[in-house]
Amino acid sequence: MAKLALKGGRPVREKPFPSWPIYSEDELKALKEVLESGYWGIGGSRKPEFERRFAEYHGVEYGVAVTNGTAALEISLRAAGIPAGSRVLMPAYTFMATATAAIYANLAPKFVDIDPDTYTIDPSAVEEAITEDVKAIIPVHIAGCPADMERINSIAEKYSLVVVEDACQAWGAEWNGRKVGSYGDLAAFSFQSSKNITSGEGGIILTKDRKLYEVAWSYSNCGRSMKGAWYEHFIPGANCRMTEFQAAILLVQLDRLPEQAEIREDRARYLTSLLSKIDGVTPLKRPEKVTKHAYHIYILRYNSEAFGGLSREAFIEAMRAEGIPCSSGYVPLYKAPAFQNLDRIPFIPNDLSKKMDYSEVSLPNTERACYKESIWFRQTMLLGSRDDMEDIAAAIEKIKENVDEIL
Ligand SMILES: Cc1ncc(COP(=O)(O)O)c(C=O)c1O
Repeated sequence: MAKLALKGGRPVREKPFPSWPIYSEDELKALKEVLESGYWGIGGSRKPEFERRFAEYHGVEYGVAVTNGTAALEISLRAAGIPAGSRVLMPAYTFMATATAAIYANLAPKFVDIDPDTYTIDPSAVEEAITEDVKAIIPVHIAGCPADMERINSIAEKYSLVVVEDACQAWGAEWNGRKVGSYGDLAAFSFQSSKNITSGEGGIILTKDRKLYEVAWSYSNCGRSMKGAWYEHFIPGANCRMTEFQAAILLVQLDRLPEQAEIREDRARYLTSLLSKIDGVTPLKRPEKVTKHAYHIYILRYNSEAFGGLSREAFIEAMRAEGIPCSSGYVPLYKAPAFQNLDRIPFIPNDLSKKMDYSEVSLPNTERACYKESIWFRQTMLLGSRDDMEDIAAAIEKIKENVDEIL
């Protein structure tokens, strides 16, 4: 019987998974060109070129490249003209920026539950949560899996709600043959260090609507207008512009994205086929309409009963000891200290903070995912070989067979 690595046995895996970020001479060349051009910020050609190419890749007309994904979300909400004090529906199974962006835009997050099988926002829960002061929905394409955008859009149309897609983890993902970013009124993407296409930090807003594009551009450019003079400021915008260095790196990374995305898809499918044979771990369901999944994270649902009651945290520790990095992921946003006692944050007006009392909120699917089930593998692991996927499955099987050693 193999001894678990936690108990001094030999780990299933002793070599690392692929590291991240990946770069080549192409990024070095692109950066050098920017350095030598003299245009490091405004006036350069890389930012507009990246905006055009990233938008085109997602089948939309316009892009506004900004400092990060949080700014992309916040500016999108502002550009959409949602009245201050309104509520915005969103999942609580997401990165905190989804909610903070709403707060910065003077909107109150209203959390709704996720589908237990996909962890994306549950459209039925969205419809149930609509009240008079709900004016927008932020579906999050969590882990790279698109939310059900057809149902979200039809609800939005029925109740005249704005849709801002949080596509910060979903570059190139598709729902029913159509790329994310093309469904909402606006969409926000992130290029932060861990992301599948990165420039260290960075973000972009996509939209098909010329007017929304111009307003978003203006908010990210100190309130200037595209045709106005440099010191004419029409709205109270801020400087959230992406630099030429970031855009130059992202142009190269965008070229590499489709090939890497295919590798991730292949490895994820293979891993799913291996894990489906192991009782007690269930990969998140990939709806049939997800024609492309970005696999920013590969998530599986852990059932401790099938492991003799071994807690998820102990299982993760055992996996890490076997050479398989993994983690448990998010806590429900409404439980995070950052979203408690919002009435004590000086910049939040009283009437808004009154709408953000989350003490009574309880979303069962979200809490089960956060506290009991979810186990995350990072995107970079999916850039490994098929053999690497076999190591993941082998480690799970080894723990299962020898669980008595750590119970
Ligand atoms: C779902 C989600 N929304 C928003 C963000 C915010 O993006 P950024 O970190 O670039 O501000 C992130 C990234 O971390 C994210 O994963």
